[in-house]
Amino acid sequence: MSDDSILKINNIEVKYHEVILVLKGVSIKIPKGKIVALLGANGAGKSTTLKAISGLLKHEDGAVTDGSIEFEGNRIDRKSAEQISKSGIVQIIEGRRVFEHLTVEQNIKVGGHRRSRKNLKNALERVYHYFPRLKEKRNEIAGFVSGGEQQMTVVGRALMTQPKLMLLDEPSMGLAPLLIHEIFNIITQLNQEENISILLVEQNAKLALSVAPYAYIMENGRIVMDDTSEKLKNNPDIKDFYLGMTDFGGRKSFKDVKHYKRRKRWLS
Ligand SMILES: Nc1ncnc2c1ncn2[C@@H]1O[C@H](COP(=O)(O)OP(=O)(O)O)[C@@H](O)[C@H]1O
Ligand SMILES: [Mg+2]
Repeated sequence: MSDDSILKINNIEVKYHEVILVLKGVSIKIPKGKIVALLGANGAGKSTTLKAISGLLKHEDGAVTDGSIEFEGNRIDRKSAEQISKSGIVQIIEGRRVFEHLTVEQNIKVGGHRRSRKNLKNALERVYHYFPRLKEKRNEIAGFVSGGEQQMTVVGRALMTQPKLMLLDEPSMGLAPLLIHEIFNIITQLNQEENISILLVEQNAKLALSVAPYAYIMENGRIVMDDTSEKLKNNPDIKDFYLGMTDFGGRKSFKDVKHYKRRKRWLS
């Protein structure tokens, strides 16, 4: 990839509580205006990677202990989550955490707390333009709308911050196929129309490779492969272990001997 990157992760190491080494030299590049997918099994270190970028790691007693992260050419790995957010990065954490007792609209508005009143109104209209379903549900209590609508609410809230880079952590998790389709269409739209660069973490590899032109595969705190989605879709190992299943987190065979042998082949 040439150097039109909006984000560069340079060989980072991440530790929790000063002793638990989770990322062991991870490098990822996100070209400006593109969607990049980060795939891998449960516990691989995907969420940790996103938190290293957004600075949320610091709130879990985690730290980038080696390497660096650059956003638009500036080093951000020593900055606070607040500073990183102000610079234009937003993370949508896994599990679609809405403020359950607030309405959908109040939830969305939380993302616009730095805006003037008029600005807030325009931004809100823009969110409703992409998520007409949220406009219909705007006065409902967020804790009672469907999982898909909660996911849309947190993406809408993130959109209110006018991000340049969106970090999405498993947006499809636990949602019905039709809703997943709807949400991914909107994500693609946000990328194309708002020119938001996206790092998409997914367990659903098939889905991720269909929206992201480039992907990284992470295992056990390391990137074991990265390539265009076209090439990855045709790679036999990827076909066997990542495609054909929608939720390999629950699949025991993932860690079997056969897999281990294959992994060694990837690494060699
Ligand atoms: N706050 C934390 N403290 C200690 N270990 C953690 C913490 N968060 C995650 N881990 C560990 O880091 C590893 C990677 O976790 P995570 O980044 O959540 O993986 P993924 O998102 O790929 O499922 C796991 O072994 C997990 O137990
Ligand atoms: Mg995770």
